[in-house]
Amino acid sequence: MSLDVREFEEHFDRSHPELIDRMWEVADHLRQHCPVTHSDERWVGSVDGFWMVTDYEDVVSVFQDWRTYTTDRERMAEFGVEQILGNMPPMTTEPPIQRDFRQLLNPFLTPAAVAPFEPSIRFIVGELIDEFIGQGQCDLVRQFARALPGRITLRLLLDIDDEDELERVLRWTDTHTYELDSPAMSDATASLERWLNDFIATRRTQPRRDDIADAIIHGSVLGRSLTDEETIGAIKNVVFGGFITQTHLIAGAMLALVEHPELQDRLRRDPEHIPLLFDEVLRLDPPVMFESRTCTRNVELGGQPIKAGQQVVVHLGAANRDPSEFDRPAEVDIDRARNRHLSFGAGPHRCVGSNLARLNMRIAFEELLSRLHDIRITDGDAPRRAPSTVVWGMSYLPLTFTPAP
Ligand code: HEM
Repeated sequence: MSLDVREFEEHFDRSHPELIDRMWEVADHLRQHCPVTHSDERWVGSVDGFWMVTDYEDVVSVFQDWRTYTTDRERMAEFGVEQILGNMPPMTTEPPIQRDFRQLLNPFLTPAAVAPFEPSIRFIVGELIDEFIGQGQCDLVRQFARALPGRITLRLLLDIDDEDELERVLRWTDTHTYELDSPAMSDATASLERWLNDFIATRRTQPRRDDIADAIIHGSVLGRSLTDEETIGAIKNVVFGGFITQTHLIAGAMLALVEHPELQDRLRRDPEHIPLLFDEVLRLDPPVMFESRTCTRNVELGGQPIKAGQQVVVHLGAANRDPSEFDRPAEVDIDRARNRHLSFGAGPHRCVGSNLARLNMRIAFEELLSRLHDIRITDGDAPRRAPSTVVWGMSYLPLTFTPAP
């Protein structure tokens, strides 16, 4: 079957077998011809089709106008729409309670709060590189990008240092990510929740460590304690938020460096420019390609009439390549004067973990670039994309390199 981009105007099928390879052609077509368009396909959790929004300005307004475009599980249920994330605050709530949930997390995730993690992050990065550097080759996804965010989240945020436990959690999050809307996803979610339940029960019996887990477990919202379901959900949001997103960002940034070897040389010379690479890779290849909202009232967006109860899906990749916001949008240019990409979202739900993600990325690439030289794709092998258009990134990145002396 061959893909005709015009079909996506009314039938946006996120599982179309050719969409991964032709993502940008479809995105450009929709943004140019119908930036807000109704699709009769089913989105996860939706009742009957959804609206797809692809231009920068309208995507920003959906993110910012949380009263009209909600992620709140209870508000969505009023319209018969299922919030497939379940009860996962702050993501599945709205202000004012959403602000209280964020207040619990924020103090642990500001730039100043995450800065003291630097030596531990550098140690974890070093451990992983030590495991493969001697071979002069690696699959960066399996041997580095998948393990790093998990080790950091479990060791530094949850104080868990057990490789078997980490591997189990990674398997559940992989299933949750790649088998959206399937019985396997429900099983993985149930296993993860049981694991979190045990973790919380254990922590309640232990002396307080005053870390992010304690802040959630012993915290309050709207002047009351969190329910057990909210406690599990909030910890799950922190765990899920940082895993696969950072895996895809690390692999995407490495792919950009392999495709632009002059950038490898420049960033080795000027490592303080490494953060510029991340913002450009985030813009071009957002690890979260789509976010969805439920419309709470009849409204007009981009000249289209959206009804209360309908699903609205924002296409972050399309918005990030909107020429009205970005010059030469398809080019990698780490020196852009302005890069207001939407890959961490915008408005009240904007990613609360972005400072930690930035710190992790900077340290990971300072170490990778100083220890691995002349990094290239392994001869006769080829990178592969992960089998999803919703979370966007690589599942295999075979590299050959020269270990630094
Ligand atoms: C490259 C890394 C990351 C990317 C691309 C990313 C992306 C996003 C996006 C797009 C949103 C907004 C979702 C929406 O409005 O629908 C979000 C929210 C969130 N992220 Fe991240 N994220 C990353 C890293 C992290 C990390 C490391 C953590 C945890 C430490 C985290 C925790 C969260 C949480 C808890 C929310 C919900 C915030 C709220 O609803 O108020 N994320 N993230």
